Amino acid sequence: MRTKVIAGNWKMNKTPDEGIKLINGIKAAANAAACEVVVCTPFVALPSAVNVAEGSKIGVGAQNLHFEDSGAYTGEVSADMLNAIGVKYVIIGHSERREYFAETDETVNKKTIKALEKGLVPIVCCGETLEQRENNITFEHIAMQIKLAMKSISSADACKVIIAYEPIWAIGTGRTATDEQANEVCAAIRKTLASIYDEKTADTIRILYGGSMNAKNAEGLLSMSDIDGGLIGGASLKEEDFSTIINFA
Ligand code: PGA
Repeated sequence: MRTKVIAGNWKMNKTPDEGIKLINGIKAAANAAACEVVVCTPFVALPSAVNVAEGSKIGVGAQNLHFEDSGAYTGEVSADMLNAIGVKYVIIGHSERREYFAETDETVNKKTIKALEKGLVPIVCCGETLEQRENNITFEHIAMQIKLAMKSISSADACKVIIAYEPIWAIGTGRTATDEQANEVCAAIRKTLASIYDEKTADTIRILYGGSMNAKNAEGLLSMSDIDGGLIGGASLKEEDFSTIINFA
């Protein structure tokens, strides 16, 4: 059985103080939940988030990392730096980073390898554009993203990876994929993973859905066979909504 994961992606929202308040507000739900709960905060909010989450069931994640250990990379943050402050998870290759910050399948792969090497849990994102969906190349596109993201990663390491399927047309738009649409792609991702590795590995890896998941639609999505949780943006910024989603999981 795969333990469900409910991960909040705060994106560029919340100051450290606002983050502390939000984490305190979701603690009760997280501590009562059977699922894994993660909040991915902006870099500057990470130390206080780790501090306030300590002793609770909430894990803290970053939204990016660099694939090198150190050096002349102005503005970047390394896996060692995240480890040093107690961060456990890191989102890699979110579509916003691919679109606005030139992330490629190659950097996603390098970052995933680095995160695994350093003991961080990578939350690796994939997803198709509306144009790709309308041209019926969703499955090919996602399979390619997954194969490239997982390149040179062993089956033992792959089991530690969390995949997030986020159709780009559903992110921040209020237009969620239907339960069936989301499950269909998550199942296809699992098939791709089985083709790279084997059934056992594919059955171990958690695959989340993301894209306008909220307190109203989460129950349906989270009850689907191949959806092992959610990566939640907007609704993760509201303690009540996020707590409701945690309760469903
Ligand atoms: P959303 O964002 O829930 O606001 O659509 C999800 C994400 O981008 O991770």
